[in-house]
Amino acid sequence: MMGKPAVALHKEFPGVAVDAAAVLDALASPVVVIDARGTIVHVNGAGEELFRGSAVHLDGLALDTLLPADSPLFSAIEQVRAEGTAISEYGVALHSPRIGRHLFNVQVSALAKSSGYIVVALHQRSIADKINRQLSHRSAARSVTAMASMLAHEVKNPLSGIRGAAQLLEQNCAPGDRPMTRLIRDETDRICALVDRMDVFSNSAPLHPEAVNIHQVLDRVHQLARNGFARHLRFQEDYDPSLPPVSGNHDQLVQVFLNLIKNAAEAMPKSGGEIVLSTAYRHGIRFAVPGSETRVHLPLVVGVHDNGGGIPEDIQPHLFDPFVTSKPSGSGLGLALVAKIIGDHGGVIEFDSQPRRTVFRVRLPTIAEEGDSGGETA
Ligand SMILES: Nc1ncnc2c1ncn2[C@@H]1O[C@H](COP(=O)(O)OP(=O)(O)O)[C@@H](O)[C@H]1O
Ligand SMILES: [Mg+2]
Repeated sequence: MMGKPAVALHKEFPGVAVDAAAVLDALASPVVVIDARGTIVHVNGAGEELFRGSAVHLDGLALDTLLPADSPLFSAIEQVRAEGTAISEYGVALHSPRIGRHLFNVQVSALAKSSGYIVVALHQRSIADKINRQLSHRSAARSVTAMASMLAHEVKNPLSGIRGAAQLLEQNCAPGDRPMTRLIRDETDRICALVDRMDVFSNSAPLHPEAVNIHQVLDRVHQLARNGFARHLRFQEDYDPSLPPVSGNHDQLVQVFLNLIKNAAEAMPKSGGEIVLSTAYRHGIRFAVPGSETRVHLPLVVGVHDNGGGIPEDIQPHLFDPFVTSKPSGSGLGLALVAKIIGDHGGVIEFDSQPRRTVFRVRLPTIAEEGDSGGETA
């Protein structure tokens, strides 16, 4: 970067031996420092590239001449000024003639409370992408829902007719023909069971949300897992005890975390497997709702971490789609159902996976936030 030296930064960190500006230039993400009036006082190399200008030209310009002033970025900046706490906004679309169109995760923090300097870091992709991907899984879940109700009506009803007819035949037919009628009965039962497995998706009854203590949900799931499929695993809890209630359905949330823990257990080695359940409250995490101006605030984060083999790379892009499985006798419906339920709750789910370190994070609105996210339906 050829811009003027970052005097402002040096003043804030007199003891730092390395050149702070050079460090910022080494970053791939644009970083902009503005003063109390919103004027740019420093921009790093990636920022110069984004704004298509050298630091010499950019310094002294008001940030809102480069970016649309009605962007959520500026409300985040205002909020940081008012409250002094750092804010992350995920999935902020920034477009202007100068920079084109980009989707960023924006991180805004006060450099030092007294100076009024604000640092804005713009990160492209990552969570925003994952969330968008997950939000599109909701449409996948919707088509499963449609298919499930079709199966329930168009397949199950005729099947019970066939089964009844076979039963009648069985009573009157020659003993030698009984195996045939029994075959008809057994096979219709098998198809019915298959259809029943899909039935959970056709449940489109409105969620009657109540205040749910997520720790009670996790305790229940933990208890079920410990006494069943996860008997051989170590569990660790890393909970924020002050977590406010979530707005949702207890039983459905139990189903969600049961599915996640079951997958974790199935990915685990025979011994040494460990599952960590975590909860946290994250201020200032907001998500864009695709196709609308609505932003949802999802401060509750519930994590299911495991040290299993990791998610096969080839299925990661479609992980929440129905029938995606790497298991010989897997249904591939577990995560599709998880995505549907979390979507119904106005939340999102994302994952990070590498061998020995896989985490699924469920982000949910709190009761108080319900109005915020109410506009969003799955
Ligand atoms: N914690 C995990 N570790 C590794 N792989 C996982 C994990 N969770 C899910 N998966 C992968 O996602 C696939 C889909 O999961 P799911 O929808 O529950 O269907 P199923 O468990 O029936 O295969 C699994 O087959 C597995 O490959
Ligand atoms: Mg599963």
